Amino acid sequence: MGSVIVVGTGIAGLVAALEASRTHDVTLVTKSELAESNTKYAQGGIAAALFDDDSVESHIEDTLRVGAGLNSRRAVEVLCSEGPDRVRDLIRLGVAFDREHGELARGREAAHSSSRILHAGGDATGAAIEAALVLAVRESAARVIEYAFVKDLVVSDGRVVGVDVIAPAVGARRLEADSVILASGGAGQLYRHTTNPIVTTGDGAAVALRAGAVLSDVEFYQFHPTSLAVPGNFLISEAVRGEGAVLLDADGRRFMTDWHPDGELAPRDVVARGIARQMAAQGGVPVLLDATALGASFLAERFPGITGVCREHGLDWGSEPIPVTPAAHYWMGGVRTDEWGRTSLPGLFAVGEVACTGVHGANRLASNSLLESLVFAWRSVGMLGQPWPDTAALDDVAPIPSSDTRADLAVTFTRRELQQLMWDEAGLFRSGEQLEHAAEQLGRWSPDDSGSVTAQENANLLDLSRVIVNAAIAREESRGAHYRSDFPITRPPFARHLEWAELAPARKVTVPC
Ligand code: SIN
Repeated sequence: MGSVIVVGTGIAGLVAALEASRTHDVTLVTKSELAESNTKYAQGGIAAALFDDDSVESHIEDTLRVGAGLNSRRAVEVLCSEGPDRVRDLIRLGVAFDREHGELARGREAAHSSSRILHAGGDATGAAIEAALVLAVRESAARVIEYAFVKDLVVSDGRVVGVDVIAPAVGARRLEADSVILASGGAGQLYRHTTNPIVTTGDGAAVALRAGAVLSDVEFYQFHPTSLAVPGNFLISEAVRGEGAVLLDADGRRFMTDWHPDGELAPRDVVARGIARQMAAQGGVPVLLDATALGASFLAERFPGITGVCREHGLDWGSEPIPVTPAAHYWMGGVRTDEWGRTSLPGLFAVGEVACTGVHGANRLASNSLLESLVFAWRSVGMLGQPWPDTAALDDVAPIPSSDTRADLAVTFTRRELQQLMWDEAGLFRSGEQLEHAAEQLGRWSPDDSGSVTAQENANLLDLSRVIVNAAIAREESRGAHYRSDFPITRPPFARHLEWAELAPARKVTVPC
């Protein structure tokens, strides 16, 4: 029986572990408890063409339009055509998606041409999926190791054969297996404001980069338009705008139609930048999301989680608009994979947010991420034990400037300093000048060498920040979530992926779409 280590316990890791446990010896490793992950906080839902008035083609077209010319068409076709069956698998597993009159209920989110978003528990979709999968994994043969931080991948003869972990209970330990599936999620903690939980420090992408895997599209970070403007930036689902809520400026005027004919339901990057511009124009004061027309009882039933959090903050969103602000939400870039989750390093798979399958391109269509995790985690298991294909040739590698660190000048930094720098200089709006400043600052920082998990997470955040900033410098155009105020338009020569391998000095490969 072959063996596999799965890293991470969001939807991607749990699905991979569950599927693989039918045929393989599985060790599932997570740095927190089994049920903690970004998945748990997903509200809006999971998009799939499951209804008679919808089609796979339409879902494909919506995904490509939002991705701004950088999607891999083949990966999108896989996502949208296999998605419905994988969602049916979840239903069979016991995920109780909400129903209306006995039929699956469906919501609408920005840039979808059809109402195709399934939800559960109103706005607790991720929690419902996570709970069902955790239960199934606990009943499976998979071995679970909680509170184990993956420090690095183990590479032998050019193949990934395990992970080095630090676990408080057992100390430093090497786990070996025939393959490793990284499903360790995103990196929201790169930014001062994020909807992501504290565990999202990009560890998977950082260890893969250090091991020599290719990263792709790292400059594309999605900012969710509406998080509650309170500490913690609790997500206010796009589904709220899908139900008809509108955005107001400080004078109570709807402003999004100034920026896009679809107003509040324009693509996510357009809405996020519209809000940020409006906030700048009104001295940093958050804009308002007005859901009052939906009625307090509808809001409480359809969005019980948001209603509860508003109440905790003394807000009654059934009777008054609530303050909202953009926050870092989802990383489109990550470890480059093929349509089976295979990375450029033999033995290493990546699925879910840590991966860059090419599904999202320069911007992710709302509610496509749970679906991507589900589809590609399932597919990756089908490739366990199969011969590894030829990996990307790295012959066209060009050295790029500004990535060298100055060990002689290095000073330690705090996570808050890094998050603020990334928010200010590599966030919703970027310019060459800001990015060069960020690159210089990042080059001066070095992580503390205490060896603690926090120090290692910070080192991972630093490595990823450097690559993201370098990629953002190299992309002299605006496309999708990457907006350069000094290059405000999309430029056809940049309709290609920027790929990165090896950390120091960072190397860049450009690959046509
Ligand atoms: C939301 O509920 O707005 C989040 C959905 C997503 O990020 O896909």
